[in-house]
Amino acid sequence: MKGILLAGGSGSRLYPLTRCTSKQLLPVYDKPLIYYPLSVLMIADIRDILVICAPESLDAVHALLGDGSHLGLNITYARQDEPRGIAEAYVIGADHVRGEDSALVLGDNVFHGSGFYDLLASARESFPGCALFGYQVSDPGRYAIGELDAGGSLTSIEEKPLNPRSDNAITGLYFYDQDVVDIAAQIRPSKRGELEITDINREYVSQGRARLVRLGRGFMWLDAGTHSSLLEASKYVEILANRQGVRVACVEEVALRMGFISPEDCYELGARMAGSEYGTYVMEIAEDLTRSPQRA
Ligand code: DAU
Repeated sequence: MKGILLAGGSGSRLYPLTRCTSKQLLPVYDKPLIYYPLSVLMIADIRDILVICAPESLDAVHALLGDGSHLGLNITYARQDEPRGIAEAYVIGADHVRGEDSALVLGDNVFHGSGFYDLLASARESFPGCALFGYQVSDPGRYAIGELDAGGSLTSIEEKPLNPRSDNAITGLYFYDQDVVDIAAQIRPSKRGELEITDINREYVSQGRARLVRLGRGFMWLDAGTHSSLLEASKYVEILANRQGVRVACVEEVALRMGFISPEDCYELGARMAGSEYGTYVMEIAEDLTRSPQRA
């Protein structure tokens, strides 16, 4: 399975924070926002990843992630010159995913919850054409909202509805079969002028080939696209770090636990950041797993 991480957009909702840096490089507590969606693809066991950036942020994102080899990944880059819509990821990334299943994750989405690895592994194993990940929200007007029939099957999806018919938000993580490239090539800009990911998803729903995987109670999903949600994400990550000593989306730890890198490689990555608590954590995790490999 191939991965696409969409990290473009103007970030205008976060002005002035994003006047001279990209949203995906802003901090969420101890690490850049882009680590969070990147770690989601890694937890889904995806190593071949196309990162799509706005032209002005490509160099900085490349300086941060490089070719991904230090994490056992193969990261390549493409530009999205204007934010013409999320579905454009499959126009820009057509050659990257052609002929294979793929996952798309939005660069501002933060996911965390126990059992996430198993949930992604089982979604990956069998999905009818696309798998969408649903999350109950209290503010459904901000997202795409899915409607389900009595049997729990998706019957419709509406983008940012004025009168939401459910509170089931469609999060920014999508699994598709190879048909997504042709579907993306056929959709046209919406009234707001964007190639809507919801139009791709609706096509799968109309073909009866969309599954909604629910992220249940206790799971955390945030779209860190506003000042408030960016701060909420930081607070959540800080609480887990302070209370449990757990670091959400530590990409070095994820690479180690997924078996993409060795404990020695991981230790070395931590040592390069030795002056920070984050670097110390990476070294400790590497040492811990060297002593007790069964915990990986
Ligand atoms: O977060 C989940 C929601 O994301 C979904 O429920 C919606 O269906 C989906 O449309 C999207 O809604 P947003 O209003 O959050 O989309 P936004 O325009 O903020 O874009 C989300 C991310 O994708 C953001 O980090 C910027 C990036 N992006 C967006 C567009 C439109 C791009 O890289 N390029 C683009 O052209």
